[in-house]
Order: sequence, then structure tokens, then C-alpha cells
Amino acid sequence: MIELRWVTHEDPCMRDVTDLRWEVLMAPFGVSRDDNWHDDDPHSHHLVAVEDGRVIGYSRLIEDGGAGQIRQVVVAFDRQRAGIGSAMLAETVTKARELGLDPVFLHARTRAETFYQRLGFVTASETPFPYGRTGQPHVRMEIRGGGDD
Ligand SMILES: CC(C)(COP(=O)(O)OP(=O)(O)OC[C@H]1O[C@@H](n2cnc3c(N)ncnc32)[C@H](O)[C@@H]1OP(=O)(O)O)[C@@H](O)C(=O)NCCC(=O)NCCS
Repeated sequence: MIELRWVTHEDPCMRDVTDLRWEVLMAPFGVSRDDNWHDDDPHSHHLVAVEDGRVIGYSRLIEDGGAGQIRQVVVAFDRQRAGIGSAMLAETVTKARELGLDPVFLHARTRAETFYQRLGFVTASETPFPYGRTGQPHVRMEIRGGGDD
């Protein structure tokens, strides 16, 4: 059974979250584990997916003025393409709505663009641009006004 849980950055499970983020998002691109890629943690909302006590997914929400930014959506290599990322993304958008944040935006790796489109995100940048510590090509995507119009 998979449980989605909102936690604080001081929750003990955040150690496993850090391992997961580094292993799946950073290490494949040579980013050092000691880099500051987690320096937003204290002021983020953290959503964790847990299966039988194991952290298998993560998504974060950052309040950016009146908008909400989603970052570092990640699922463990051996649990990808089973609907977990979609469930986390939907829950993160719901949280942003509850907090009154609009629009909800993110910078998607181009390889994951269709994943976000399936949940209603629309690409808002014309051409991909290198972003974050990986330098991978990204596009800005967003949902405005509840995502159903
Ligand atoms: C991208 C990611 C978060 C998606 O989570 P997931 O649980 O694997 O995705 P879901 O099972 O909910 O949805 C999968 C669907 O999204 C779409 N999709 C598009 N690009 C995808 C990608 N790179 N990886 C996974 N799904 C992708 C497909 O339509 C796929 O459906 P299919 O399996 O029938 O082809 C996850 O695969 C992951 O952590 N990938 C590596 C890290 C990453 O790229 N994160 C995004 C940073 S912007």
C-alpha cells in the first residue's frame, strides 16, 4: 500500500528523501551530493510517497509570492510508470489550491513534459532552456485558475 504524506523538513524520513532525490535527479548528471540543491527545504511543503516503510517518491511545493512552484518531482527507479508520480503531482496541485496559490508552475525537464501535460500543465516557454544544477533542458509549465479551464 502506498501512502502520500505531507511532512516538515525536519521529519526523519527526509533523510531518505535526500537519498532518493540525489540518486534519481542529481547523480545521473554528476551533481555533487554536497551541492546546495536542497537549500530550499526549510521553506518548502514536502510530499512523500511511502510504500511498506520505504520512501519511493517525493514532490515539493514552494510558495513564490502568490504563486506555487512545484520542484523535484521524483519516483524511485524501480517504481516509475506505475501512477505514483501522477498521484503525487495531483496532490501537490491540490495543496497549492488549498493555499490559494495561482498559478501553479514548474520547470520540467523536456523528457518529462508529456508527464506534466497529462495532469493539465501547459507549456509556457517557447524554447527549452538549461535550468538548475543539472543544466538539463527545461520548459516552464503552468496551470492557472484551478486547472480545468
Ligand atoms: C517523471 C516521473 C516523476 C514520473 O513519475 P511516474 O510515477 O514514473 O509517472 P506515472 O506513472 O504517474 O505517469 C507515467 C506517464 O507519464 C508520461 N511520461 C512522459 N515522460 C515520462 C518520463 N520521462 N518518465 C515517466 N513517465 C513519463 C507517460 O505518458 C507515462 O505513461 P506510460 O507509462 O503509459 O507511457 C518519474 O518517472 C521520475 O522520477 N523520473 C526521473 C526524474 C524526473 O525526470 N523527474 C522530473 C523532473 S522535471
